[in-house]
Amino acid sequence: MITNTFKNKKIIITGHTGFKGSWLAVWLNYLGAKVVGISRDIPTSPSLFEELSLSKMLKNYQFDIVELEKLKKTIHEEKPDYIFHLAAQAIVSKSYVDPVDTFKSNVIGVTNDYPSTSNSDVVVITSGIPRKPGMTREELIGINAGIVKSVSENLLKYSPEAIIIVVSNPMDTMTYLVNKSFDIPKNRVIGMGGILDSSRFKTYISLETNFSQHDIDAMVIGGHGDTTMIPLTSISKCKNKLLSEIVSKDILEKISSDTMVGGATLTKLLGTSAWYAPGASVSYLVNAIINDTKEMLPCSVYLEGEYNAEDLCIGVPVIIGKNGFEKVVNLDINKNEMEMFENSVKAVKQTNLALDGLI
Ligand code: 2OP
Repeated sequence: MITNTFKNKKIIITGHTGFKGSWLAVWLNYLGAKVVGISRDIPTSPSLFEELSLSKMLKNYQFDIVELEKLKKTIHEEKPDYIFHLAAQAIVSKSYVDPVDTFKSNVIGVTNDYPSTSNSDVVVITSGIPRKPGMTREELIGINAGIVKSVSENLLKYSPEAIIIVVSNPMDTMTYLVNKSFDIPKNRVIGMGGILDSSRFKTYISLETNFSQHDIDAMVIGGHGDTTMIPLTSISKCKNKLLSEIVSKDILEKISSDTMVGGATLTKLLGTSAWYAPGASVSYLVNAIINDTKEMLPCSVYLEGEYNAEDLCIGVPVIIGKNGFEKVVNLDINKNEMEMFENSVKAVKQTNLALDGLI
């Protein structure tokens, strides 16, 4: 997966000293990208991580839930053997904390220095606060909307042609905020949530069927919310066999409901929002853009009538290329899934109302 196309590309991560941002930097650094992390503040303390080798992380980008199983075991059965993982912080915040210079780092960390982000190719917005146990992603809107808008405004001043990937939650609404606030073509604004949700969907299918995630074709569309996402169980396949022919209806239900709350489950266990798989999922998306892979990936994009929806950003299958997303792909989903999608559209639009006054 390591390609030399990253060599002359510049990737920006806002909120780079946070959990997601720092791990994204580790992933992108591994891919050979030149990364500038920008935050409003200097990291106060190193992040707590369970030791994992980079090669293992890269091989199995869906290990979010697998780590959850391991973490559950660790927390309940053994004293958690955490270490302060300064390596990640060292990569991300080279200018601040660098006692463990074990990585060849193309990553620099800056504070509010937007000129150093100029002429970037892709900008990833992870700025804002993560949710705590028991919170929904939607509850973050009051704090994160203002941060996302001001960070995007500053970045676009120095990189007017950049592709913007939005990760901050509530992600669909933040993606809509960026689309509506700035005069940039919709194909250059992509929200990342569905790739992460689909990786958890595949992992839960794998845990039930023993198929490797890499032999599983499964996708989550709709909102990136505990009640708005739609795991497409009707068309999921394991080695080309329909999932619905391999597991019972109850198991199918369980896989779907576990997937929908995968993020909340991890947050409850960890005390903060996930970071491994979100970082890996974003790096997968960045790689697809930089390498113009034309992959079909579930991303939150601005709709103008596709899937009978308009004037919102929500997760749908799109073709990803060097200019962002190229087109929305119409999947043959069943009546029930279409109804769930329509309800998801209503729920995301309801959340978008809270942006009043900001767009
Ligand atoms: C998640 O689902 C942070 O929304 C992200 O883990």
